[in-house]
Amino acid sequence: MKKELHFFSRLVEKLMNIEETIPVSKPIDNDLVIDKLNLEFEEEGINDEDWERLIENVALKTPKTSSKLFFNQLFGGRQPKSVLGDLLAVMLNSSMYTYKVAGPQAGIEKVIIRKVCQLIGYPNTADGTIAPGGSMSNFMGLIMARDAFSTDIPNAGVSQKMILYTSKESHYSIPKNAAFAGIGRDQVRYIKTDPSGKMDIQHLNEIILQDKEKGFKPFFVNATAGTTVLGAFDDIEDIHKICQQHQIWLHVDGAYCGGVIFSKKYKRLVKGIELSDSFSFNAHKMLGTPLSCSIVVVKDKNFLTKSFSNEAEYLYQTESDDFDLGRTSLQCGRRNDALKFWTLWKSVGNKGLEDIINQQFYLADIARQYIESHPDYRLYSFQDSISICFNYKNIPANKLCTHLYEKASALVGYGKYGPIEFIRLITINATNTQKEILHFFKVLEEGAKELENKNMLSMIAT
Ligand SMILES: Cc1ncc(COP(=O)(O)O)c(C=O)c1O
Repeated sequence: MKKELHFFSRLVEKLMNIEETIPVSKPIDNDLVIDKLNLEFEEEGINDEDWERLIENVALKTPKTSSKLFFNQLFGGRQPKSVLGDLLAVMLNSSMYTYKVAGPQAGIEKVIIRKVCQLIGYPNTADGTIAPGGSMSNFMGLIMARDAFSTDIPNAGVSQKMILYTSKESHYSIPKNAAFAGIGRDQVRYIKTDPSGKMDIQHLNEIILQDKEKGFKPFFVNATAGTTVLGAFDDIEDIHKICQQHQIWLHVDGAYCGGVIFSKKYKRLVKGIELSDSFSFNAHKMLGTPLSCSIVVVKDKNFLTKSFSNEAEYLYQTESDDFDLGRTSLQCGRRNDALKFWTLWKSVGNKGLEDIINQQFYLADIARQYIESHPDYRLYSFQDSISICFNYKNIPANKLCTHLYEKASALVGYGKYGPIEFIRLITINATNTQKEILHFFKVLEEGAKELENKNMLSMIAT
């Protein structure tokens, strides 16, 4: 093993050095990638030297999601202490289902869950778990709401038209989960959003009333803390009023921006979070841990146990119920996603997590100011969002983003709100500074110039 670890250490050093000078890998056509990088298996293995060469080549040709020019998704950058925690989790190879096997690692997960519950103002009855991603955290929220609606469902299945509500700007995991849960995609109501991307509360109430009139059973509202495209925050307090009136479970999907709970300055964006029945956020997004680290908490632990606990004599063999985390999780064998968050949190403290969050909003302000002070740009997003949506010189967003990708200049994506398509710059990498954000705009403007020249040449040719 030591030989492989030495190789690993040399490799990551090389990778990080290359990231500095070549922050974006040249894309490889997907129909060529298997042959070009020799990914196929053979009957015989390969010698260690060839194996190392192969691994290095594959690593160096992989998109660099931690580089200073990666703005494509809702994650990015490396928090060193957290990376170390995750590497250690691989070495320890714990499975989080029982205290017997996970030992202190179970304690670490419990501390994280307890602290998150306290931070958001849940009572002592609260608990939670770490799910394999934000989609699955939303799934767990939905399942708990479904089983809370009728305790017969886990055994008898769904027999009524149970309806769930989410804004049309919410994540696609909501309808997908409705299908998984036996509720059905047809029972998802997409609530209109206001011009800033927040759920329209009046519309929510109207649709609930219409469903009730038809004899349907409203049971779940999903509010989003950071919508995937605009980064908008639904108004939790207002949504809660409606949920309370109609006795509906309120889940808050904070996968993208629920991390604001760690910032005194930005926690206001999830005002009323303590009123929710369940809440989830991805530490691998705003907190910068490696993927994945998605935490889901519920105000009343009983719902977690009722929906996810199952007796298994062959598994639970010691008297440590409360630390046998398999009793409240989605999976059986479960990766240790807690350690990487804990190593970071311990190192920087609450204050450091707050700085990580605040930095992202600071970078977003820098980006918005740049856009607003340059007449060739048009801004579509709002204050208090780390998704900066804009267009440049009327160049179609998808054309410009694809050009930057193909030229290996920068990775940035595009999105839509209503009929308008725009570039979506995500300032989630808190290791970035003003310099990297301003550099991004320079790279984008150079790419736009190349594209304009290319178009001019093709016009001359025709
Ligand atoms: C609002 C929202 N919810 C849920 C998810 C899904 O999270 P994951 O990719 O961890 O499944 C995302 C992902 O971007 C998201 O933006």
